Formats: sequence, structure tokens, C-alpha cells
Amino acid sequence: MNRKLLRSVREYKRQTILTPVLVALEVLMEVIIPLLMANIIDVGIEQGDMGYIIRLGLLLVVLAMAALVFGAKAGQLAAIASAGYAKNLRHDIFYKVQDFSFGNIDHFSTSGLVTRLTTDITNVQMAYMFSIRLLARAPIMIILSLIMTMTISVPIALLLLVTIPVLGGVLIYIAKKAHPHFIQVFDEYDVLNNTVQENVNAARVVKAYVREEHEKEKFGKISTIVFDLFTKAEKIVAWNSPIMQFTVYAVVLIMVLIGGKSIIGGTMLTGELTSVIVYAIQILSSLMMVTFVFVQIMIAEASTDRISEVLDEVPEMEDAADAVADVPNGDIDFEHVNFSYSGEGGNLSLKDVNLHIKSGQIVGIIGGTGSAKSTLVQLIPRLYDVTEGSVKVGGIDVRKYNLKALRDQVSVVLQKNVLFTGSIYENVRWGDENASDEEVQRVCKLAQADGFIQEFPAKYETMIVEGGNNVSGGQKQRLCIARALLKKPKILILDDSTSAVDTKTDALIRQAFREEIPDTTKIIIAQRVSSVEDADVIIVMENGEINGIGTSEELLKTNKIYREVYESQVKGDADNE
Ligand SMILES: Nc1ncnc2c1ncn2[C@@H]1O[C@H](COP(=O)(O)OP(=O)(O)O)[C@@H](O)[C@H]1O
Ligand SMILES: [Mg+2]
Repeated sequence: MNRKLLRSVREYKRQTILTPVLVALEVLMEVIIPLLMANIIDVGIEQGDMGYIIRLGLLLVVLAMAALVFGAKAGQLAAIASAGYAKNLRHDIFYKVQDFSFGNIDHFSTSGLVTRLTTDITNVQMAYMFSIRLLARAPIMIILSLIMTMTISVPIALLLLVTIPVLGGVLIYIAKKAHPHFIQVFDEYDVLNNTVQENVNAARVVKAYVREEHEKEKFGKISTIVFDLFTKAEKIVAWNSPIMQFTVYAVVLIMVLIGGKSIIGGTMLTGELTSVIVYAIQILSSLMMVTFVFVQIMIAEASTDRISEVLDEVPEMEDAADAVADVPNGDIDFEHVNFSYSGEGGNLSLKDVNLHIKSGQIVGIIGGTGSAKSTLVQLIPRLYDVTEGSVKVGGIDVRKYNLKALRDQVSVVLQKNVLFTGSIYENVRWGDENASDEEVQRVCKLAQADGFIQEFPAKYETMIVEGGNNVSGGQKQRLCIARALLKKPKILILDDSTSAVDTKTDALIRQAFREEIPDTTKIIIAQRVSSVEDADVIIVMENGEINGIGTSEELLKTNKIYREVYESQVKGDADNE
């Protein structure tokens, strides 16, 4: 198993080491028991010595009980060790993912991460448990039983010595044959999880578009693939049991032949024959267990690889030791910024962007979808790093800041914003967990959210469910703005955050910003010209480049795109009245 993953065993090392020790003791008992049986038959019964039979019988019971206790304790410890190991692994992956930048998250799909945290961990846990329990058991059992057999009958021991590698080889061959199918199954699991997750997340959209039949079909298809692959793999593995049975019967038969001859010749006793038969069965079933564990380990191998990928992913952004902890003001400068989502050499989403925004300004950004408006603003709180050039906040390169300090001062309402399950209070307090009720209410008033909150029966204690499905789009947007405001940021970025809010409320929000947070730099991305018209500067984006920059008045004279959008919207509004 992967060395690096084993680091997560941590405080469960004791259980991990104790398990095989107890297993060894259990095996020792199990090896002595057939020996006692042989003596009961060969000495006690043969000589009709009842006292001897009872004495050995009692000893046998004690040993059997001891075996039971050791076995049970080993099972418990193995369960604790493996479940604890799984817990630690899950913890490590989860914490690692928290350190991921947006770029890191882009490398893995969401369902990929979920599968890693669930199915893959379970696979590793199972393999780990079987490994510490059975991998110790089999070799000890085989060696001790072989030695015991050797003391009773050398020919039978030789027979077993030949059988072990042959049967072991066959069983491993079967496991190897089935392995690729199992690997495929787990790849398909990813697809299956993805399908289910997408469907469940978007259940409302699926219903609105009456795509249930299509979704069922999609699910049915992938579900069938998983079924087929599993059947294929299990069909191969199913050979294990009959081959095993056949071998056991064949070996026992040969042993009876050899043993019978020896008994008749007087070199072996009946009890001894029964005990070697028990040893043979113990040896062969141990072999079976080993191959079973091999299959588990092989299955887990794919999972460990996938888990390692996450643990080995280098978080793109880590604070330098001398990171700047204070953002002096809300100035923003872009200097020759190029940016590509796929890193250096990739397709440029932003091309040679130069921009200078003074603290406290209101900046409007307008442009078609895909013109890189969101990409542009995501560089300011360092959700992504520039590919070339630099982005400065308060005159300092954003890469020099302590990430938390920067993000506390640069508050973004993302285009794809979400609320979390919890009350309105709890949701808004994401902005500042120590904020008083009054402060929360103040920012909600600023974001024009107080009005509708007061209309809810539970007011600020109203529970938000499922990422905000029980409030309207416009209400959700205003709650997200309130949450961002609570940080008292030096820079506030709204990425299309009032698209579902009516024009009048939109204007009230901007008015509140102007009056209540005059020193905060406000960047407003919008589709509506009316949302940016009164901004100090308006940036027109086109294909990842700045197409024009200036006040609304200036742009109307100089910028074709702005003029066209302005005319179509203002004219459209006039027509509607
Ligand atoms: N996470 C991402 N990974 C790769 N490409 C992306 C990602 N997000 C956006 N893009 C691409 O970057 C370009 C600009 O997108 P975006 O900034 O979202 O535009 P806008 O916000 O103006 O609609 C688009 O071509 C889009 O496909
Ligand atoms: Mg966008």
C-alpha cells in the first residue's frame, strides 16, 4: 500500500500493531487444538483412560475460549484501526481541499472529490482492515500447520508443500484477471456519481425542462455499465470457491490414501490423521484468505492512487513568511496583466489589461458574456493568480499579502453565489462571525434586504435551505451583498449581483453605497447600463481586453460597444413605457 497514505494512521498505530500480535496468538491456539484432539483419540480413547480424556478435554475448551477471545479482540482492534485510519485520511483530504485555490479545484471535478472522500476511503479502509488481520494470519497459520504436519507425516507435509504454490498461483491468476475490471468499475463509479450529483443538484431545472426521461435514460445507461463490469469481474472471481473446494477434497483424499497406508503399516495413528486433515484445511483456507486480501488491496490500489492525487496537489497559493497583513487602501492597479485558466502557454482569457482605480471610486464593468468580466475581478482578491504582469491592491502586489488579510478587505459577491443552510443571521455572519445583531441588520438595510426579511414570519431567524432555494433570486442576491458588506471591506466587488433585483431597488442599493461606504472602492459588473451609468469610471470589456474606459458621457462619444448597448437598452426602456 502507498507509503505516504500510511502516514495518516497516526494515533491508531498501537491498534494496528496489536492486531497481528493477537491474531498470532489466536492462530497458535488453533494449531494446538488439533494436536490435543489427536491425543484424545490416540491415547485417551485407545487406552480407555477417561481421566485423561476429561483433562485434555478441559484444556481444549480453555484453548478454544482463548482463541475466541484473541480472535474477537483482534477483530475489534482491526475495526478500530481501520475506521480510525479512514477517519484520519478523510480529515487530511478535507483539510487539504480547504487549502485549494480556485485553480486547484478546477483540476478535480466536484464529484471526483466526493468519490474520493467516500467510496475510495471505504475501499482503503477495507483493504487496511483485511491486511492487518489476515495478512498476518495466513503466513503464521501456514508455517505452524506445516511444521505440525511435518512432525506427524513427512509425505503429507510434502504433498501440502506442492499444493500450496499451485493453488496459490491459480488463485492469484484469477485475482489478476479480475483486477482490470474492478479498476474500470471504479472509474465508472465516478461517472455514476457525477450523473447523480448533477441531477440532484439541478433537480428543479430538470423538472422545469421536463428532462426526467432523458435523465433516467442517462442514469440507466451508466448504471448498466457498472452492472456489466461488476458481473464480469465477479464471474471471474466466482471460480475461486469451486477451485478451492475441489483442491481441498482432492488433497484430503490423497491424504487419506497416504495416511490409511501408514495407519495400516503402523507408522501413524488415527487421531494423527484427523489432525493433519484439519491442518490441511486450515492451510488451504488461509491461502484462500490471502488471495481475497490481494483482491481487496488491488481494488484499493486504484483508490489510493486517486487519494494521493489530492494529497499531492500543491496548493497554488501559500503565504510567504513576510506576508503583508495590512491593506492600506482600496486602490487597484492592473499592470500588463495576461491571464490563462490553464497557466502559462494556455489560451489567454485576459490580454494585456492595464487599469488604475482610485480608492473610493465606483467602477462599472460592462461587456458581453464571456468577455472576461468575472475573470478580471477574480484576480483582485487573488482567487486566481495572474499568468503575467501584476495586480496591485493599495499599491502592493496581491501576491505579497497574507491571503486572509487580502480577502477580508476585498469582498466579492460571486456571480455563482450560494447561501448555506442556516438562519439569515448565520448566513450574513459569514462576513464577520462576531458581528452583533444590529450590525447584521444595518448591512441588510444597506443591501435593501431588511424590507423583505421583516415580512418573513421568523424575520432574521428565517431558515435558508438548500443553498437558498426558499428565497427568490433577487432576495438571495441582496443577502449575498449584505454578507459581503459585513466585512467592512476596502474593496467591494459585485459580479452581476443585482441582475434579479428590480431597477429601483438596484438604484437604492447604489445610493446607499455612495452615502454609507464612501471610502470603499466599489466595482459593479452589470448587464444593465442603468446599473453602471452613474459610476465614476466604466470599463467596457470585449474578448478579454479593455475596449474602452471612461465616464458614461465620454464613452457615449468614443466607444461604439457602449453606445450600442446604451441605445438598445435606453430605447428599449422608452418603448416599454
Ligand atoms: N474556471 C474556468 N476554467 C476555464 N475557463 C474559464 C473558467 N471560467 C471562465 N472561463 C473562460 O474564460 C472566459 C471569460 O469568462 P468570464 O470571465 O466568466 O466571462 P464573463 O464574466 O464576462 O461572462 C470564457 O471564455 C470562459 O469560458
Ligand atoms: Mg461573469
